[in-house]
Amino acid sequence: MGEQTSMTTANLREETSAGKLNARICEGEAERGRCPTDPPHFTPSPLIEASSIGLVSCVDRLSFDSESFGFSCYRVSRWDTEPVSAAVRQLLDSPGPLAISAKVPADNVATASGLMLLGFRKVCMQATLSCDLSVRSLEPVPVGVTIRRGMPLDDETVWRHARNFRYDRFSLDPLMPAEGRHRLYFCWIRNSLAADGKLVAATGQDFCSFFETPTAAVIDLVSILEPRRGNGSKVVAAVLAHAKAAGLTEVRVTTECENTPALRLYHRLGFTVATYTAALHLVRQ
Ligand SMILES: CC(C)(COP(=O)(O)OP(=O)(O)OC[C@H]1O[C@@H](n2cnc3c(N)ncnc32)[C@H](O)[C@@H]1OP(=O)(O)O)[C@@H](O)C(=O)NCCC(=O)NCCS
Repeated sequence: MGEQTSMTTANLREETSAGKLNARICEGEAERGRCPTDPPHFTPSPLIEASSIGLVSCVDRLSFDSESFGFSCYRVSRWDTEPVSAAVRQLLDSPGPLAISAKVPADNVATASGLMLLGFRKVCMQATLSCDLSVRSLEPVPVGVTIRRGMPLDDETVWRHARNFRYDRFSLDPLMPAEGRHRLYFCWIRNSLAADGKLVAATGQDFCSFFETPTAAVIDLVSILEPRRGNGSKVVAAVLAHAKAAGLTEVRVTTECENTPALRLYHRLGFTVATYTAALHLVRQ
């Protein structure tokens, strides 16, 4: 039990490399941008200001998520048991609804157990998959798919896409309100598809948005409104073709282990799992 709640030197070393891993895993989340508009009938509740309760740097307030859900959302950003415990207790002492999330490498059972003792629940497991482009031949972008920055879509279609996500960690947590989740995805998709947003592989109204690092293409969002017609495979294959032609070495994507349609698609196209991560939430309604 003591081992589960206190951080040893070995744990700390493990955490340092785990921190790097998590930075990679969170790339998509960090790229959501600003939350521009309110959906219909959205009434935000008062937000707890992090500064007013003296939060330490191991728990960050997520303004994008907080605006989307209408209550304060935080993320545990650094594994340091005592400050994290103190910050979580401080947040729980404040009134009102809140959500705190944490992502922990799957094998870091001690940290996950420590968080669960604080009241976190393990909501899902996430897999980060990688497709090694060095072993792939150069292929053309599939016919019918265009790659460009941004994609013009009307609000109604963006709302349909926003409601299309059913296996993400918010959908898998029955304590996170669906309205907030739809709003978060609406804003995220709007930002990604803006003229100055992400690169987008598109066919009709379906898309795969992505961004590039010096060596890799990282998939941001994939959403197909008419499934099982090959569109998902086409837009992801287009990202692989584009990345290979651009001289990148890898395409990465993170998805929930519960998302079997997405996992089947990625495996079929040659992705293999690089890391598994546990997503934990502490939600007070
Ligand atoms: C996951 C997702 C992108 C898959 O897109 P999709 O267009 O259905 O994917 P595909 O059509 O290429 O492949 C899906 C299945 O349809 C089959 N299929 C493809 N073309 C077909 C056709 N013409 N007729 C019948 N089946 C077909 C594929 O073989 C595949 O079968 P399998 O799942 O048994 O292996 C889509 O379901 C989606 O948008 N989900 C919601 C958002 C989401 O979760 N995104 C992923 C986040 S990482």
